This record gives sequence, structure tokens and C-alpha cells, in this order.
Amino acid sequence: MSIIDPAVPEESLLSGNRFIRACLRKPVDRTPVWFLRQAGRYMQEYREVRKHHTLVEICKQPDLASEVTITAAEKLGVDAAIIFADLLLPLEPMGLPFEFQAGEGPVVHHPVRTAAHVAALRTDRTQDLAYVARAIEKVAAHFRDRLGIIGFCGAPFTLASYMIEGGGSRNYIHTKQLMYGDSIAWNMLLDKLVTVLVEYCRLQVKAGADVIQIFDSWVGALSLADYNDYAFAASKRLVRAVQALGVPVIYFGVETAGLLSAMASTGADVIGLDWRQPLDDGWRAVGPNHAVQGNLDPITLFAPLEVLDQRVKEILRSAAGRPGHIFNLGHGIVPNTPVENVQAVVKMVRDFHIEEAARG
Ligand code: CP3
Repeated sequence: MSIIDPAVPEESLLSGNRFIRACLRKPVDRTPVWFLRQAGRYMQEYREVRKHHTLVEICKQPDLASEVTITAAEKLGVDAAIIFADLLLPLEPMGLPFEFQAGEGPVVHHPVRTAAHVAALRTDRTQDLAYVARAIEKVAAHFRDRLGIIGFCGAPFTLASYMIEGGGSRNYIHTKQLMYGDSIAWNMLLDKLVTVLVEYCRLQVKAGADVIQIFDSWVGALSLADYNDYAFAASKRLVRAVQALGVPVIYFGVETAGLLSAMASTGADVIGLDWRQPLDDGWRAVGPNHAVQGNLDPITLFAPLEVLDQRVKEILRSAAGRPGHIFNLGHGIVPNTPVENVQAVVKMVRDFHIEEAARG
């Protein structure tokens, strides 16, 4: 199946090119599209693989991780494939084992609560994550330049929060206690994370990742003052070090309306927007020197097609054809999302510029 839009054969870009050009705010023939959590439990093919393997087993077996990545991207007809892995994988080589408990999300068995715990974390075993690189190589060999290949890692704040809380959290009390109360331990923890994450991204880029997305999923728990005082510097160092590997960076968080301008100051090429504000407001906050990615509410995928179509078009009109928009959700696809609605969104995005041209 060709992934090139047959309606514009002359100036058609390969999807990979289209996606990477948009990250760099270069003009494209149509808006590229992919989805946060595009491989996951909402997809029958993934659930089949999950019947026989745990999540971590899938991540650690490059044949399985690459298969899951490729199947989801092909089934949806998106412009980019995000490697199947998990945010928490780097915790293991740092000396913090974790597991996913059914219905509870990730559990870190020995949370980091003191300077001594931080001091014991290792930063010299990132090569243990080479299985992610092997999976990326397989995905890259499959797609070549046809699709953009996205590697990813967590941002220092978000990963620190999992390490300190021992899992997900509502109020981040332990995290903020360490952050406010022991700046030496906090900075040592973020430094160690940046060291590991840069090496981890290096593995992924060498293996063929075209772009790295940094997930600061829970950074919206911070006030702007706390973001600036406790999270910004480490994020910026990570962003710059990944860009120095030669790839664009997408920096994403949720409930970040008050943080967007600060997040953009990290220098990330693309800022991921959640769905709580109109895309053009978010883009204004981010500024014209950055691309944006987003920002459909993932739960709109449960709406009737007319409603979905209306919301998709609102986002595309609000981007107004400016170079540097990548269509995506404002957060990840949730279980039970109808796959055909995700496919319908791909078609809506693909058809949009043709319909708009016809409208004159
Ligand atoms: O296509 C893809 O995006 C899949 C690859 C992917 C996974 N996790 C696989 C996964 C990616 C990009 C992630 C990132 C991730 N992991 C984040 C950041 C993304 C975000 O949503 O902001 C976070 C916070 C995690 C940590 C994590 N992993 C949690 C909190 C959970 C449990 C959530 C739940 O719904 O149960 C996971 C599990 C997980 N990681 C699943 C998948 C497909 C679902 C669980 C499963 O298959 O058992």
C-alpha cells in the first residue's frame, strides 16, 4: 500500500521527510500526522501479542517491539512510527527495578527518598538498553525513509517523580519534598538522569531514530516558578545534548498551558500541546521559532464522526497552514478507543488541504 497521497503525486513527499520537515518548520505538502500511544491496548494486534508476553518482555525482544511498532504505524497510515518501549526502562540499569502491576501502572520497589539513595544510582550501564536500539534498527530497515522514526525518553522531572514516588502520583508530595528540601540530592538526581538519558538517546539515534520525543508528562504538576527553579535547567541540558546528536527534539507535557513559554526556552524544536487550550493560543505562547504538535483531546476519538471531523478541522484551521504543525492528540490513545476512528482522523488530516483548496 502506498502511503503517498495519490491526489498530489507531483510534489508528494515521503512521509518520513514530511514529518521531519515539519519538525524543522519547513513547508510540506500536507500536515503530517501520528498519535501518542499509537501502539497499545486499543489495538487487537497488540492485545494478541500481550496475551503471550508482558509489556517489558515486548520491549526487550527487538523482534516483538519492532513488530508492534510497525503494525500500528501501517494499520493507521501515519507519517511517523514511535518505537515501542516504555518511559521507565532506564530505571533498571540505574539500579531501580520496577514492574507493571495489572490495573495499577508501574511500581518501583525501592523508591528514591534520600541523598544516599541518589548517590547509589548507577549511570554506567546504559548499554543494557541496547535492546531498544536493536528494535529501532529493525523498524528503520523496514520503513527506510518512508516513515519518520521517533525514539523517546522521559524528561528528568517526570522520571524523577516515578523514582521518588515509586509509581504514579496525584500530588507529588515526596517528589516536591526532595525538590524543595534537599537541593543537593535533587540536582544530583537530575544530573544522573541527564547523563543516562543522553547516552540512551545516543543509542537510539545511532540505530536510526530521526527525531527524539522527550516526555515530560507530569511537569504540569509544577508552578511556573517551580519549573524554572527546579526542572528547566536539566530539561534544557537534555534537549541541547540530544540536538547535538543531530536530530530534532519534540518536548511534550500535559496541563502545561502556563509553562509553554518556559518549555520553549529549552530550545526544543517542537513543543507538544495538550488539548486544553486552542492550538493557536498554545502556539502563540510557544512563539514562532518553534513547531507545535497536537492537540486533539484523545477522548474525542469516542465521538460521532461529525463531531470528530469538526474538531480535527478546527485544529487544522487554527494552525492555518503555517509550517511547523504536526497533527497529534493532546495525550495518548486510551484503551477501548475505536481503531476505525483513529484511521478516520488520518484520512481527515490527509484530505483537509484538498478540501480547503476546493473551498477556495
Ligand atoms: O505507541 C506507543 O506510544 C507505545 C510506546 C509507549 C509505551 N509507553 C508503551 C506502554 C510509550 C511512548 C510509552 C511512554 C510512557 N510510559 C509514558 C509517557 C507517555 C504519556 O502518556 O505521557 C509514561 C508516563 C509511561 C509509564 C507507563 N507505562 C504507565 C503510567 C503505564 C500504565 C498506564 C496504563 O494505562 O496502564 C505504562 C504501561 C504501558 N506502556 C502500556 C503501553 C502500551 C499499556 C500497558 C500494557 O500493555 O500492559
